[in-house]
Amino acid sequence: MKKVAVFISGGGSNLQSLIDYEGKYEISLVISDKEEAYGLVRAQLYDIPSLYIGKKNTYDHEERTQKIIQALKNHEIQVVVLAGYLSIMPKEITDLYPRNMINIHPSLIPSFCGMGYYGEKVHQGVYDSGVKITGATVHFVDAGVDTGPIICQEAVYLEEGDTPDLIGKKVLTLEHRMLPRALEQVCCSRVSVKDGRTIIFQG
Ligand code: GRF
Repeated sequence: MKKVAVFISGGGSNLQSLIDYEGKYEISLVISDKEEAYGLVRAQLYDIPSLYIGKKNTYDHEERTQKIIQALKNHEIQVVVLAGYLSIMPKEITDLYPRNMINIHPSLIPSFCGMGYYGEKVHQGVYDSGVKITGATVHFVDAGVDTGPIICQEAVYLEEGDTPDLIGKKVLTLEHRMLPRALEQVCCSRVSVKDGRTIIFQG
């Protein structure tokens, strides 16, 4: 089974969904850029090797990049998942995982994504815009921000009285269902890309 590294910055509920799904992949490493991320605790509870690599223990950006690369090599990582990871992944690292690095974003890309759209800001933007549908997207990571080929999307209708917080909760439910399945498809080589569009082969 492919060895997977999961990058987090927060609570790690998406990491938990990957653990619970027990898919055809092996979560071999969890890396956080936030020392206090509860996702690190989740990893430790399941004896998954975990690392904090951030400004508090590695102030220099290039040194952080090299530490991440070394950790990925040491754990023989073949696929990378960004699950609420708030730092921009350097091109030196994304280049190591062409079509083997995926991200989950809590909107229907290309809406409400890119620089400045993360976490609650996404759902605030959705709320302020008055759209009737939002959702989540899993996509391959390239050198841009939320710009790689889309692997899957799921939508949810908004209802009268939905607050940004409630919208976030609705979308997170979609994320927890989508991410493990998308990761398994990538790890089983069922996702190809042609002209910037993905083609998924049912196994
Ligand atoms: C999720 O909403 C994800 O879409 C976004 O950050 C959040 C991470 O939540 N990128 P968690 O840490 O997995 O609970």
